[in-house]
Amino acid sequence: MRRVDIALGERSYPVFVGHGLLEAPSAWADRVPDAPLVVLTNDTVGPLYLDTLKAALGDRTVHTLVLPDGEAEKSFDNYRRAIAFLADHGVRRDGCLLALGGGVIGDLCGFVAATWMRGVRFIQFPTTLLAQVDASVGGKTAINIPEGKNLVGAFHQPVMVVADTATLSTLDDREYRAGLAEILKTGAIRDRAFLADLEACAPALLDRDPEALEDIVARSVAHKAEVVAEDEQEAGVRALLNFGHSFGHAVEAHTGYTRFLHGEAVAMGMVAAARLSEQRRLCPAGVADRIAEGLRRLGLPTLIPADLDVDALLDLMQLDKKNTTRQRRLVLLRDAGDAFVDAGSEPGQVRAAIEASQG
Ligand code: NAD
Ligand code: GLY
Repeated sequence: MRRVDIALGERSYPVFVGHGLLEAPSAWADRVPDAPLVVLTNDTVGPLYLDTLKAALGDRTVHTLVLPDGEAEKSFDNYRRAIAFLADHGVRRDGCLLALGGGVIGDLCGFVAATWMRGVRFIQFPTTLLAQVDASVGGKTAINIPEGKNLVGAFHQPVMVVADTATLSTLDDREYRAGLAEILKTGAIRDRAFLADLEACAPALLDRDPEALEDIVARSVAHKAEVVAEDEQEAGVRALLNFGHSFGHAVEAHTGYTRFLHGEAVAMGMVAAARLSEQRRLCPAGVADRIAEGLRRLGLPTLIPADLDVDALLDLMQLDKKNTTRQRRLVLLRDAGDAFVDAGSEPGQVRAAIEASQG
């Protein structure tokens, strides 16, 4: 078991990472507040892990709300449903919510916790690789509205994160690999040695080897912990975590959020952003190929499909949340393991990078 601390003064909290933490809860169970507990989960994860979580909580009273599975359920309707559930069960300010699931459940539960009674405690039990290394750590909570994803939300830190890597054994292969993309992103933006280690242990990771997973998840969380501790509300360095996301979001939006998982689109986006960095001579030649090779070893796509329309992708990139009204901002690379936010790309340069990344 590994422990990573998120250092945020009074709002600091531990992230426990380990194989079998739900079945063997001695490291974390005492930290669950002695207060009314409400679990939020979905109808895929609940049947798999709810009983184990409840057993870990002993004889405490736990109320459970099981929502339907899917990104579409990170909705205002389910937010209202969860709030009504808390009201019906008389949950007061001392209550604590438990999010058991992937990033969808974590984001929704976190937003409910941020707003119920002006903020109650919550604990993340992330069960996807993406949620373990990214969504459960750092306090971004949100729901989607018809006008866009994650447009309504709040920063609200959990009081603890328990990432049981054994739960990843039931995760669908594509979802698992999508999480590996976000891990590779961490290496690409701030740790060249981590990138090399990922390349070396790709076969073990693809086999979901418990030791390799625990090590890589804990190191990835440690990186995110440093970034969040330095810049909790994304005024600076936290924006680097969006490497590959501007191109990736455009690919996801252009294909109706159905053809590619987020991590797959981010994988293509990272290669495109690296190509743009190379083409603008901001980073040495060969970095984009190296990132593409790492992604290939992890079973991820590296090319933006040739049937996607470049003009449509460029238009969608204009709408990116990182842009201000005047500036097109992109996370680019100085080298593998060294990212920065840049506002100097001309539309023609972005177009050339997309075209060079299609296939
Ligand atoms: P998800 O929560 O939809 O989970 C993916 C699928 O896997 C779902 O069908 C889910 O039911 C299933 N699943 C989850 N755990 C499982 C398990 N152990 N075994 C079998 N099936 C399991 O998707 P995700 O990729 O975890 O998260 C995506 C969401 O996270 C998006 O809404 C995104 O906006 C959000 N996100 C938030 C942050 C943040 O910082 N808050 C960061 C990244 C992503
Ligand atoms: N997932 C990006 C962030 O947490 O800032």
